[in-house]
Amino acid sequence: MAANGSNVMLALSVLTLFLLANVSECRTPFTLINGWYKTACIAENLRGNKNYMCSRNGSMICLPGWTDEYKYCTTPICDPHCVNGNCTAPNVCTCDVGWYGADCTRCVPLPNCQNGNCSNPFECNCDNGWTGMFCDKPICKEGCVHGTCSIPGRCNCHPGWTGENCDICIRSPDCVNGYCEKPMDCICEPGYLPPDCKRPICRDGCNATYGFCKNPGECWCRPGWQGVNCDQCQTYEGCQNGFCINPWDCLCETGFTGMLCDQRVVVTNNAINSNGNAGAFINNPFAQGRSALNLGGLNKQASTPRPPLPSPPPSLPSPPSPTEASATDTDQSNLLAQSYDDIIRGNFEGR
Ligand SMILES: *[C@@H]1O[C@H](CO)[C@@H](O)[C@H](O)[C@H]1NC(C)=O
Ligand SMILES: *[C@@H]1O[C@H](CO)[C@@H](O)[C@H](O)[C@H]1NC(C)=O
Ligand SMILES: *[C@@H]1O[C@H](CO)[C@@H](O)[C@H](O)[C@H]1NC(C)=O
Ligand SMILES: *[C@@H]1O[C@H](CO)[C@@H](O)[C@H](O)[C@H]1NC(C)=O
Repeated sequence: MAANGSNVMLALSVLTLFLLANVSECRTPFTLINGWYKTACIAENLRGNKNYMCSRNGSMICLPGWTDEYKYCTTPICDPHCVNGNCTAPNVCTCDVGWYGADCTRCVPLPNCQNGNCSNPFECNCDNGWTGMFCDKPICKEGCVHGTCSIPGRCNCHPGWTGENCDICIRSPDCVNGYCEKPMDCICEPGYLPPDCKRPICRDGCNATYGFCKNPGECWCRPGWQGVNCDQCQTYEGCQNGFCINPWDCLCETGFTGMLCDQRVVVTNNAINSNGNAGAFINNPFAQGRSALNLGGLNKQASTPRPPLPSPPPSLPSPPSPTEASATDTDQSNLLAQSYDDIIRGNFEGR
């Protein structure tokens, strides 16, 4: 027993010495967290590992980018955190399907999504002004009925239409006092005549041949004509006891004679006056025509200087504007430059 006891004692001493020697060699002892912990720091395991090292006192120290000592520091660290994916290596996020970006927060939109965005993978949520599955259809406000909507809010008008929403028609080019309900229309405003609404409608009753107007409702007389409706001829200036059938006539009333009908007929037994006009003719002037009546006077008038221009009827609201007036003067000059016979035939420029 003593020998046995001494043997045992010797063995224990040797073990103690060995342990002491070991301890003195490492100087600091291993810190035992659990059984395997120590294993992590033995040479075989430390070699070829890239995730951790061990301190002299046996503590595992994970290398930068790695964590979780209980798993040999094999858990990578991602900063920032991977939102829609797994952190598979230090600062490497492996994203779930449909996500990308450093932290897997960017979604992949629907393929061909043109003007949209996603908050989850494969969505196509349209930006303002766009619509459609792929957000490729622009939205134009209020229709754009007569145009093509090419970009949001921009309505490119079809021919004949204008305006921001292409809802305003374009009148025919010559249309002056008219409007349109569709392109090329010229619907006249009150007082103007189709097709181009340039011609005004003269006052009701105004003689179509001897009256004219520049503005609706007016009635201006052509040279040689007068009266509210311009249907009464003017007698030759100075005509005293005569009348007219055509402008500048001076047809003498019964009992008068002379160029201005200012001479009384001296009735003789022969019933012939000094000018050769027979009393019978004068009593029935219209049946005979003007050439049979007062012929000398008319011939003389045709060669006399032109008579003064007539003035418009006093009932007119306002005189023509300067441009209109000058145009009228020109017209009248032209008219008066024509022969007297042209004028009395009413051969006016049609308007
Ligand atoms: C082991 O060493 C580390 C640093 O090297 C220290 O933080 C830790 O406290 C030490 N542990 C013990 C038990 O001494
Ligand atoms: C992320 O990890 C989970 C759990 O292990 C797994 O189900 C999933 O497929 C992984 N995702 C990727 C993108 O690897
Ligand atoms: C949506 O689009 C904006 C820019 O247009 C972008 O900044 C944002 O990241 C996008 N959102 C998503 C979830 O992709
Ligand atoms: C214009 O007046 C003349 C002379 O009074 C008359 O003969 C003619 O018929 C009138 N024309 C029209 C269209 O009223």
